[in-house]
Amino acid sequence: MLQNHRYQKQVTEMINGISRIKWWKYRYVLFVALVVNVFVINRFFFDQSISDLNPFGSPTTDENLESTTPSTPEKTSNGAKTPVVAAEKTKETMTLNLHDYDFNGKYVGWPLERVCKETKWTPGLVYVCDNNSGGIGNIRNFILTCVRYAIESGSSGLIIPRIQRRSEEDHANLFTTGMQPLSYFFDEAHFRGAMADNCPQMTIFDTINDVPNHQNITKMEEFYPKDLNNPDGCDERGYNRHLDHFRVRFDKWLVSTRRTPSEAKPVSVRFRWATFFEWPIYRDGPEFAATFGDLLRINPDIENIARAVLREFSKFAGVEPKDSKLDVPYLGVHLRTESDALGFWPDFSVQSEGYLKEAESRKLKHAYLACGNATDGHRFGEIAHERLGINTTSKLDLLKDQELQALTDLTWDQQALVDYLVLSKSTHFTGCSFSSFTMNIAFKRHTMTDGLHTRQWKSPGDEFTTLVGRFDNWFGDWMFMYECMWP
Ligand SMILES: *[C@@H]1O[C@H](CO)[C@@H](O)[C@H](O)[C@H]1NC(C)=O
Ligand SMILES: *[C@@H]1O[C@H](CO)[C@@H](O)[C@H](O)[C@H]1NC(C)=O
Ligand SMILES: *[C@@H]1O[C@H](CO)[C@@H](O)[C@H](O)[C@H]1NC(C)=O
Ligand SMILES: *[C@@H]1O[C@H](CO)[C@@H](O)[C@H](O)[C@H]1NC(C)=O
Repeated sequence: MLQNHRYQKQVTEMINGISRIKWWKYRYVLFVALVVNVFVINRFFFDQSISDLNPFGSPTTDENLESTTPSTPEKTSNGAKTPVVAAEKTKETMTLNLHDYDFNGKYVGWPLERVCKETKWTPGLVYVCDNNSGGIGNIRNFILTCVRYAIESGSSGLIIPRIQRRSEEDHANLFTTGMQPLSYFFDEAHFRGAMADNCPQMTIFDTINDVPNHQNITKMEEFYPKDLNNPDGCDERGYNRHLDHFRVRFDKWLVSTRRTPSEAKPVSVRFRWATFFEWPIYRDGPEFAATFGDLLRINPDIENIARAVLREFSKFAGVEPKDSKLDVPYLGVHLRTESDALGFWPDFSVQSEGYLKEAESRKLKHAYLACGNATDGHRFGEIAHERLGINTTSKLDLLKDQELQALTDLTWDQQALVDYLVLSKSTHFTGCSFSSFTMNIAFKRHTMTDGLHTRQWKSPGDEFTTLVGRFDNWFGDWMFMYECMWP
């Protein structure tokens, strides 16, 4: 698919548009932009006999996540629970919990509310956040980056974000199949509710035609925030060191280009493709960094399928599933060796050795595997079984009948969300350091380390996750995935 000249040309043109330097400097970007998150899950055949009840004990790492001390604003504290251990640190209930079927935890909106209150709002300014592409890791960051810029710009309107669907036949073709609603991946009601409750200064419109006086709208397409930067010795590819000047420059630029928005004459802003992984999340403080991404939760119907997978996985591992308690120790594996993986990414043996090392040291005897390469998936399962007696399975093997039908009715990218959720609940999660899909799961789980006070992720991992493989040269000086991905 990379040989496909059409896409290469298309992306080359975009990259040339993005900066004035030669596109070959971004050859890796070109490749990766096409393939990030490309994976599909294949069938595995393992006997699903039920062995003794959970002989492996329960993980102890996440027992205390619900404890809280009421030292932060009332809104976020559940106040009532007694800390299990003497907790000097506050661990807010917003965090994920590995022992239930809830993929989100409590929504904490006050950091967003605070940022929205600090903002000076401009009537008639509207952001359009739809020029995204790819899988969950990229789409999620694009929308969040766009909404964050919209807030910074004082945009009093937002068109409900949409998602560009990629082709089912050709997964490298990210652009041609048209726009899907936000609910294609996400919980739209939650997004609207959380925005209305915490950022009511920004009105959400269904379409651009719902903006008052839309007949008079001035459309700015292909906006690129870094174009407003003062290079100050660097070029515009550089790290966005001037976010503190962004609003000032943005307002000046609107005036100087005769685009001052007003209710009578609105102005809409749409990003150039691939404006993402460029807002350093810790700039807004740890509370905002830990919670902003929770605006985008996975679609509840897809969550239900993931719950069904977890229940079946529990049986597979010999633990009779309980209604609300998830009590099955397993290794989550995202093996990323599809044929589009790049030469400098960790290969099968580096990845599988890394994953098995974690399974062994943590004494995990069952693995949930997400992998688009059937041959390598089997290979991993066999090695894991031979060497460590680990039984491996995947979602398509676990589900039956209507539940399987519900899964296979989804598109390829939607099916990947089921893995995203199931892996997020694993006792220990392992994946390839180059995948934004993997990183996003890792960072979400990382919030379990200290709730709202969580410190920045440090590779290769924490008590919940291990990323395998070095991450040294990927996006050069364009994207900063580890700094700029909200959990
Ligand atoms: C793995 O599966 C095999 C074959 O079904 C079974 O005999 C064995 O007990 C299973 N091992 C574990 C750890 O569940
Ligand atoms: C659009 O602008 C024109 C003149 O600039 C004005 O006459 C008209 O009333 C405006 N329409 C709306 C819907 O605001
Ligand atoms: C997305 O951005 C690209 C590159 O800037 C542009 O060519 C394209 O028209 C945009 N697509 C949409 C739907 O706005
Ligand atoms: C599976 O991975 C191997 C290398 O690990 C690669 O040679 C092969 O092309 C891949 N197959 C698919 C279908 O991605």
